[in-house]
Amino acid sequence: MNSKRCPACSATNPERARFCMECGADLGVAPAPGRARDAEPPPEERRHATVLFADLSGYTSAAERMDHETVKALVDRTLRRLGEEVERFGGTIDKFIGDNVMGVFGAPVAHEDDPERAVRAGLGMQEAMAEVNRESEERNSVSFLLRVGINSGEVMAGAVGDRYTVMGDVVNVAARLQGAGRPGSVTVGGGTYRASRDRIAYERLEPLELKGKVEPVPAWEATGTLEAPRSGSLRSETPLIGRTDEAALLASLVDRAQDEGRPHLVTVLGQAGVGKSRLMRELLDSVEGPEAGAPTVRRGQCLPYAGVSYIALVEVLREEFELHGADSPGAAWDRLLEGVGALMDELGQPEAAERTAALLAMTLGIEPPGGVAGPGAEDPQRMREALFSAARAVIEGICLRRPLVLALEDVHWADEGMLDLIEHLARLVQGPLVIVCLAREELLERRPGWAGGIEDSTTISLEPLSADETRELVAALMPGAENGGGAVVPQVAERSGGNPLFAEEMVNRLIEEGTTEAAALPSTVQALLAARLDSLARTERRLLLHSAVVGQTFWEGSLVPAAEEEGIDLGDTLAKLEQKDLVVTSPRSRIAGEREYSFKHILIRDVAYGMLPKAVRCRKHVEVGEFIRDRAGEQIDAFVGLVAEHYSRAVSLGAESGLDPDVLGELRAEALELLDSAGDAAAALYSNGEAFERYQAALELTDDLDPGSRARIGEKQGDVALRMGRVDAAVAVWERCLEHHRTSEDLARVA
Ligand SMILES: Nc1ncnc2c1ncn2[C@@H]1O[C@H](COP(=O)(O)OP(=O)(O)O)[C@@H](O)[C@H]1O
Ligand SMILES: [Mg+2]
Repeated sequence: MNSKRCPACSATNPERARFCMECGADLGVAPAPGRARDAEPPPEERRHATVLFADLSGYTSAAERMDHETVKALVDRTLRRLGEEVERFGGTIDKFIGDNVMGVFGAPVAHEDDPERAVRAGLGMQEAMAEVNRESEERNSVSFLLRVGINSGEVMAGAVGDRYTVMGDVVNVAARLQGAGRPGSVTVGGGTYRASRDRIAYERLEPLELKGKVEPVPAWEATGTLEAPRSGSLRSETPLIGRTDEAALLASLVDRAQDEGRPHLVTVLGQAGVGKSRLMRELLDSVEGPEAGAPTVRRGQCLPYAGVSYIALVEVLREEFELHGADSPGAAWDRLLEGVGALMDELGQPEAAERTAALLAMTLGIEPPGGVAGPGAEDPQRMREALFSAARAVIEGICLRRPLVLALEDVHWADEGMLDLIEHLARLVQGPLVIVCLAREELLERRPGWAGGIEDSTTISLEPLSADETRELVAALMPGAENGGGAVVPQVAERSGGNPLFAEEMVNRLIEEGTTEAAALPSTVQALLAARLDSLARTERRLLLHSAVVGQTFWEGSLVPAAEEEGIDLGDTLAKLEQKDLVVTSPRSRIAGEREYSFKHILIRDVAYGMLPKAVRCRKHVEVGEFIRDRAGEQIDAFVGLVAEHYSRAVSLGAESGLDPDVLGELRAEALELLDSAGDAAAALYSNGEAFERYQAALELTDDLDPGSRARIGEKQGDVALRMGRVDAAVAVWERCLEHHRTSEDLARVA
């Protein structure tokens, strides 16, 4: 294809264009970070994805009157138009099958909100369908019915033949939901519903009887999008924990800008969910108010798939000039011109009002009436400069009245033009302006030189809460837990890694499911972390997947085979992962002479671990076990437990992934021996609890353990139970042994 798509507004431009002919955005920018850049086909992985099927029907009888060629062209054009909706929301078109299109969200690249994106695409398809029908009805007297079905869950992704696709039950159910849905509707399954119900309006359907499913499948029909803020702010609020220094610093920067009458750029950086928006809310609550001198606050939100350039600016202008979606175009223009006019009067440049308003109208999608000197067909670069000056003039006008705080959310999603504009304003505005940008660290990966050369600029890195603070937060989120659940508060606190959003989501899940197990990962958290993993370069991400098999801590040497297989420069990639704060070097290594690392966040490790196919993980666990055994040398007793763990993992993964029975049998024998020795090694150190667990794992390795081993290991397990003072456990173990003796003797006698 020799055309270029604009990163800001998605318009198509000729290959040699340097700026978008539609919105003037710079087309020279690098593509979004992540794997899009990598030419290699994505490797096989287990992923959480959302699958969409859209199917055309209802045109067949009309088509009898038409030539096949016309019909085919019409269907083709319609499907392609529908497919555009998939791409608009960041999904990929998997395939066109007959009069059906299949789209995938979350593979090969995950976004934190793939289910919501898919539903928005589905709703967009129905709108597009209505448009297409209007046209084709006029031209060919043909119209289509469109059914859309969507489902979310774990899939296997990878090449089938020479094509990348996703497979699994989730895909089949999505296709069946589409088939069972009402024409003109978007029908979704439970996974999609639960992940997107905060942002999409649904009506519950009668559970659907689907082919190949014994139980009726719960289903919902999407009826529209909700304009409510994201779930975070809907929840009842917990008191702010910690963050006193950061809050004080922010407030002092606002005071300073006010006193000095100069702009200040503040960037608050931190991982998703760490509390950026919450910190901003605290700031705005403290500064906003009716009293004289209190700053004006204008908010702008950047979105991951805005389709509108400068969307944060657009929101700021809408709020400032009270432009509402429902206004007629004429009324909107009048109000904009009046508002801009008043500001330009105060700035002493009344003559610039009309042109300034016309430039801003472009971003707002408002058409100035005929006769107004619009921006015209100027050189895009010049037009952009003109737009920036117009924005600057309006901001300066507002600053003349009162100090202005621009609160910009999720700036890591801002288009390039918006980032340039923010820097432009921070550099050149004259007046008391504070621009607070909230962003994830990805912003700096995209723009390493962010805020460079801006005199008054502060970056606040928001770190996860401390261990004590996190426990305080979790306790506040689940009042009464200390008396009831006991260990659950520290467990959730530890697993959340100091991330308040993760802690909240885990608590919600516990409450919803009524359990006290802190293990399961909420899908929101899973999605956020998967998206973070996918934002890394291929080599970084793949290395993390392999590291996850080694464990929460891992050694450089244990990754050598994986790095060779995947063509990864090991040292370099580990350094990058460390730079990006995903892994940290341990001060001391448990294996002499081996550099040791650990995952910074335990949940990242868990998500990464789930992604490699089970068969690959099985092989890798054996490899890691061998590595440790080899390096441990004389000190094998200290490591035999770890080696045994890798082998028993390999056994269960091998069984689940259909490993050759002979190979599996060998692995099992090896694992049994290792677990047995690990139990002995632990028992020798009076580490009785651990010994008990190891023997237990050995006994559970297989149902048809030979009676001799069962008796021998069982006896040892009974001994350690007794040493721990757990008489009842010891008795239970011995009884089970006896039981086995008896049945096997009986069997022997019968035989
Ligand atoms: N210091 C804190 N004390 C209590 N709750 C917090 C704190 N920081 C964040 N939260 C809560 O955690 C959730 C996620 O925070 P949020 O500010 O939305 O994260 P971010 O904007 O960094 O993604 C919100 O519900 C927020 O109220
Ligand atoms: Mg936020």
